[in-house]
Amino acid sequence: MVICITGASSGIGEATAARFAREPGARLVLVARREDRLAALAARLPGGPHTVVAVDLTSDDAPARVRAHVEEQHDGRLDVLVNNAGAAWRARFDEGGWENVRKTMALNFDAQVRLTEALLPLVRASAPSAIVNVASTAGRVARGGTGAYSASKFALAGWSDALWAEEREHGVHVGLVLPGFISTEGFPQAELRASPRTRWMVSTADKAADAIAQCALDRRPERYVPRAYWIPAALRIVLPSLVRRAIGGSSAQVMTTTTKADGE
Ligand SMILES: NC(=O)c1ccc[n+]([C@@H]2O[C@H](COP(=O)([O-])OP(=O)(O)OC[C@H]3O[C@@H](n4cnc5c(N)ncnc54)[C@H](OP(=O)(O)O)[C@@H]3O)[C@@H](O)[C@H]2O)c1
Repeated sequence: MVICITGASSGIGEATAARFAREPGARLVLVARREDRLAALAARLPGGPHTVVAVDLTSDDAPARVRAHVEEQHDGRLDVLVNNAGAAWRARFDEGGWENVRKTMALNFDAQVRLTEALLPLVRASAPSAIVNVASTAGRVARGGTGAYSASKFALAGWSDALWAEEREHGVHVGLVLPGFISTEGFPQAELRASPRTRWMVSTADKAADAIAQCALDRRPERYVPRAYWIPAALRIVLPSLVRRAIGGSSAQVMTTTTKADGE
């Protein structure tokens, strides 16, 4: 079984690599920009041989490079594609403007779509197979200060639903994972973890990895992490005024900005 995981150099992607490496016969294709981190991970995981592609997924040639790698190193076999790489740059719209939306969409949405387009023929040829897209509960409920991030994750969730319906006839399952607050390098959740009142809200990358594996291997269509986060998502639909009151104003404070993606 060949599994390609983007954003495998840290956080949820790294935990997902460790989770899939436990599957018998798993061979991983680890994708991100930091080659040293990917190579070290590939070397220490069981099974394999695992391979790495060090690439900026927003670059024009990234999809073709990943596809060529899978064709050359894994005979074109691709059983699972996990579109996980992503980042958040917190800014109100009147601060970050279109440029922040453009930058966020380029990584969190366009890059996933472009990579999927390039790899879909290989995934179909390997069916029964799966694509798992990592969105966010911010792709169901938006808060002030994170509009660009929410826009990218709402887009990813909507596109994933359509792809799920379209690819069924080809034997390709499309799963969607919506994490809540997970403590990782890019999303440390330091403020939530600092207080005993909010610490319980923060989950682990291993739990997100289990959900991703469940979507891919057990063909689950959708998983929130933690599971109870489906409740605010449902409330946003049935009681929108309640959710607006709950998140109004101060909510932007709890999301921590990642800065490493553009060196800010
Ligand atoms: N943690 C949370 O609370 C949370 C909640 C909801 C959703 N999510 C989603 O979960 C996914 C993983 O996030 P995480 O929490 O694990 O954060 P993370 O630890 O910062 O991991 C992000 C990964 O994406 C890669 N990446 C970033 N920009 C890239 C680029 N231009 N090209 C290629 N790879 C790139 C990074 O690797 P390099 O820097 O080496 O390129 C890294 O491996 C993201 O899509 C995020 O939106 C996270």
